[in-house]
Formats: sequence, structure tokens, C-alpha cells
Amino acid sequence: MRNLDADTLTTAVLARHAQAPDARLRQIMDSLVHHLHDFAREVSLTEAEWEQAIAFLTECGHITSDQRQEFILLSDVLGLSMLTVALNHRKPAGCTEATVFGPFHVDGAPRYPLGADIANGARGVPCLVRGTVRGVGGEPVPGAQLDVWQSDADGLYDVQHPGLDHAQARGIFTADGEGRFHFRSILAMPYAIPHDGPVGRLLQALGRHPWRPAHLHFLIEAPGYETLTTHVFRRDDPYLDSDAVFGVRQSLIADWRPQPDGSYLVEFDFVLNPVPAG
Ligand code: BEZ
Ligand code: FE
Repeated sequence: MRNLDADTLTTAVLARHAQAPDARLRQIMDSLVHHLHDFAREVSLTEAEWEQAIAFLTECGHITSDQRQEFILLSDVLGLSMLTVALNHRKPAGCTEATVFGPFHVDGAPRYPLGADIANGARGVPCLVRGTVRGVGGEPVPGAQLDVWQSDADGLYDVQHPGLDHAQARGIFTADGEGRFHFRSILAMPYAIPHDGPVGRLLQALGRHPWRPAHLHFLIEAPGYETLTTHVFRRDDPYLDSDAVFGVRQSLIADWRPQPDGSYLVEFDFVLNPVPAG
């Protein structure tokens, strides 16, 4: 195996994987090598461009911390996160569609009784959120757990405010005996994903903006049902058709209705996919 060239290298690398004990790993790595090599051949990748790509990935690593995950952002803006969601959450008609998880969920958010206000000091216009969790057969899902999080009027999640030591605009609720939930929060606003790092520079170089349309995040869990990771989007948002991370689905768009007292009301019902018994 000598004198490998641009045509024979790919086969040589794949042959080196032949003894891999994990068949799935081998399948994934074979395909990755195949596509990477084809990509390099297709664009006639120069050494300077390859060095630039390595420098970019190195910078993604350096800026990544417990608070900042640049590789997830990269996957998001390349559409890979949403593609993975689409591949893994094909559901029967009528089920609420899934969308991207994003980097701003926090494990162990505060638990609140139904009706509580999760804003907890977050800046924003008050908003009431309510709805029902059902199964695809129409049955209510009593006791479904709803983990909710959103950004504030400045377009920032609580974890993006340096020094803030308590949860804001996030919390966990348990639906009542008929699957119903309601809570208070603040009006969801569009926001820019973190773009002060390499991924932001990439977006700029590509002539792309970093904005996401206004949304509320939900992670809904109930025994016997597939866990649902989704958003509810605001119908009047200017970024619905150009979400920086490609997460919008028509079925997840709702009306945030202005109320006489200046607050807003949004109602949304979730439909969960039962997992087969056994
Ligand atoms: C979010 O919706 O929180 C989010 C998703 C992807 C990238 C950045 C933020
Ligand atoms: Fe978000």
C-alpha cells in the first residue's frame, strides 16, 4: 500500500477499517471518509484552505466552555442538528413535531405549581401560556411534565447573563389530571444566536444573519410516550422563513394574542406519540 494518489487513497483508508469490531462505527466512519474525500476532490481543496478549516475548528474548541458550545452552534447553522431531528422523529400524523434542542436548556430547573410566573425578574411583557397535553388518540396525558425555557426581552437566556445566580424564564410544570397546564412568563422575542465567535464569522462570510424567530422551548415527558423536544413560534415574527438554525415547522406556529391589560396570551396543545408497549 504505497504510492497512494488522489484516486486510490479513499479505498486504502476504508480497507484499514475492515477489522473494526464495532460494525456501526465502521459504517459511520466509512461513509464519513467517503464523503470527506469526495468533498475535497470536488472542490479541489487547497492546503491553505485546509489549514484555515483546522484553524476554524481549533477556535471552536477554544471558545467552547460549560456556558458556550460552539460545536453545537456549528451543527445548528449547518442544518445538521435539524436534519438529525428530522431523521429520528418521524411521527404519525397529528403528533406535535419536534425541533432543535439548542444549547440553553438547564437540567434541574425550578419546579413550579401550575399558574406560577417563571419570569422571576426576567425583562419582558407579561404573557400567559396555556394548553393541554394529549396522546395521538386524543386521550389527555395526566401528569405530563413540561420543562419550559425562553429568552428575555434583550434576547438573552438567563445563563447568558454573567453573574445571574438564579433561574429566570425557565421552569418545570406538571400537567393536571386532564393534561392541562398554564403558567405565566414573558413575551417571546426574536434573538440572535451567539455570533461573537468563529460560527458568527462564518455566518457573516456567508452573508447570513444569526437571528432566530421568537419561540418558547418545551421538553415534555410522560410515561408511555416519546419525549417531545419542541418550540412554539410566534406567527408575526419576521424571521420565521430565515431561522438561523432551520428549526421552524408550520404546525408549531401560534398566535400570541394581545390582552386588554397589555399582556399576551398564547394557547397551544401538544400531542405526544405513544411508545409501543413492551
Ligand atoms: C435556541 O433556540 O435556544 C438555540 C438553538 C440553536 C442555536 C442557538 C440557540
Ligand atoms: Fe431558543
